[in-house]
This record gives sequence, structure tokens and C-alpha cells, in this order.
Amino acid sequence: MDGISETNGPSADNAADALKNAPQNAPIIDPFGRSISYLRVSVTDRCDFRCVYCMSEDMTFLPKQEVLTLEELDRVCSAFVRLGVQKLRMTGGEPLVRRNILWLFERLGRHLESGALKELTLTTNGSQLARYADDLYRCGVRRVNVSLDTLNPDKFLAITRWGKFDKVMEGLEAAKQAGLAVKINCVALKGVNDDEVHRLVEWCGEEGFDLTFIEVMPMGDIGNEERLDQYWPLTMVRGELAKRWTLEDSDYVTGGPARYVTVQETGRKIGFITPLTHNFCESCNRVRLTCTGTLYMCLGQDDAADLKTPMRAHADDAPLDDAIREAITRKPKGHDFVIDRRRGAKSVARHMSVTGG
Ligand code: 5AD
Ligand code: SF4
Repeated sequence: MDGISETNGPSADNAADALKNAPQNAPIIDPFGRSISYLRVSVTDRCDFRCVYCMSEDMTFLPKQEVLTLEELDRVCSAFVRLGVQKLRMTGGEPLVRRNILWLFERLGRHLESGALKELTLTTNGSQLARYADDLYRCGVRRVNVSLDTLNPDKFLAITRWGKFDKVMEGLEAAKQAGLAVKINCVALKGVNDDEVHRLVEWCGEEGFDLTFIEVMPMGDIGNEERLDQYWPLTMVRGELAKRWTLEDSDYVTGGPARYVTVQETGRKIGFITPLTHNFCESCNRVRLTCTGTLYMCLGQDDAADLKTPMRAHADDAPLDDAIREAITRKPKGHDFVIDRRRGAKSVARHMSVTGG
């Protein structure tokens, strides 16, 4: 009740109303003063694609009993919402290949209705969007991030190994029709899609999509060293784009690692995610949960907290809440990613599909 003075403050009724309408909990604050308002949840490590920078072709996936059930995912997400998380993003693997995943979106939709949650969203490869777009909208999803590195079907197949380009295009169309705002995530790969960046900007302008370029990150042992050669710093991508487009620095910030510009000609935003060349940690408001219930406080470090054990050991949620609070006290100040030729391409051992992008 600090800050409500008896003489100048609102009437008792107003104060009671304000309390009722306020989120149940203020965001959890980490030791560096960052409020943790954003949780990314990997709901499965499986995927129907095998992107070359993400997975090897013969991936071994987790045994089922290690993966949180949909009920457990609801329980842990709801605990975070109770502790002040306002934005939930489902990732994978590919979230939409998880059986019955709509049940989870439906359940989590109740937190949107209560006002505790401001946004429920997902990152998807688009392969199942044609099937799910309308239902996702009905559950309260309003925006989706769709991974797409190229508009060339042959290159698409080369990058994703198993992906079906037409299916993704259908999915994007369905998302548009359903009223979902779309942001395209494009991993910038030297020698692969560097000749396409202008076309991607133009196409996103035509379609009404925002676009984010992502630097290839050294995660997981995927059995090749190609990422070192494909590394294309986004300062160079931006330099290339500036040859053809008028890029205005945007003050749009999300608390995440992306920096944004607005393309004057199309009116759309372009984001740049540069985890390797820039330090964005001071504004980091997010933590990540794997599909096995491990909480990573920082994408670039290995320290983690096990939430599955306290959740499975107790029917009541107090020990789970305590484990979350304790984990946040360990959120590190920053990460130490580096593409280092001596250490090889792998600087964080786990795969992106385990932690979620
Ligand atoms: N480096 C950069 N981006 C990656 N993604 C997956 N693996 C990597 C990597 N090693 C991207 C996907 C998707 C997002 C969730 O993460 O392409 O757009
Ligand atoms: Fe699947 Fe995304 Fe990894 Fe590609 S990058 S294999 S779509 S999880």
C-alpha cells in the first residue's frame, strides 16, 4: 500500500477497485532490476522440418515421460501468470505438431479473459497453420511468428530438408484470413539467402507482414561446421538493405533482443536480432521453459532450474511458485555467446529446439 497517502490518495472505494483490477502480482523482479514479464515455452522438441542450422537429419527426441503433459504445461504457465508474466509464447520444436496442442491454447485463453495475460502467441514453421489459424484466433492468439528463410521453393527444401513450401504459403494465407498479424523470422545465411533480402522486404510489404532477420546462433551439435561459413552479421544485412530501401530507426522496443527500423516505402517494420554482435541483456525481460520443465534464465548460459520435480511432487502449487521465484534470483546479468573457431561452432550445448528460439 505504499504511496497511497491518506489525505491525497483516492477514496477507499477507488483504492479497493484499483487493487481488484490490478494484476494479481507485480512482475517478479530479478537481482538486476529487470521484471520478468515474458515466458517462452517449448511445448515439444519435435518438428516436422529438419532445418540445417537447427537439427541433424537423424535427431533423437525425448522419451514421452520426460516431456511435460499438456496439463502440466498449463499448470506451470499458469504459475508464471500468477507471478506476473504477461506474455506467453509457445515454441518448439514445432508447437503445432504436438498432439492436442489446441487444448493448451484453449486453457491458457482464460488468462487473457481475466486480463492477467496480455498476449498469447507462438513461433511456428507454418506447416500446420492452414489447419489451426482459425482455432488459434478463437483462443485469443492475435499474432504469430512464422519462420521462413527464403521464397525460393528449392532453397526452402535445401534449408528445411523436409519442409513443404506450398504448405507454408497456404498456412500464411490462412493466418491472414483468420486475422492473425504475421511476423516472418528469417535466419540470415551468407551464400544461401543473401541474394533474396530485397525480395523478402518487398514481399512482406505486399503481404502486410513484419520481418525479422536473425543471426545464425551457435547452438547444439548438429553435426556440421557450416554455420561458421554461413554467419552473416546483420550490420551487413542492414547495409545491403539500405542500398535500396529507406530505413528509419524506430523507437519500437519489446524488451527483447531485436532492434527495429521502419521501411519508408512499405511502412512495415524490420527487426534485427543480433545475439552475437550486440549485447541486449540489460533489457532482457524473459525466461525460457523447455518441454521437460527446465527453466533457463538466459538463452546464452547453461544455468537452469528444474520445475518438473517440484510440480510432480506436490499437488499444490506453492513449491512450484517457490522454485520459480528462486530461479529468477539466479538470472544472470548477461550471456557469453561467441562464434569461436577454436571452440567450434557450438558454444551452448543444447539445441534451439529444446530451449525454444
Ligand atoms: N540460429 C539462429 N536461428 C535459429 N533458429 C533455429 N535455430 C537457429 C540457429 N542456430 C530460428 C528458427 C526460427 C526461430 C525460432 O529460431 O529459424 O525462426
Ligand atoms: Fe523445426 Fe524450427 Fe528447428 Fe526448423 S528451425 S527444424 S522449423 S524447430
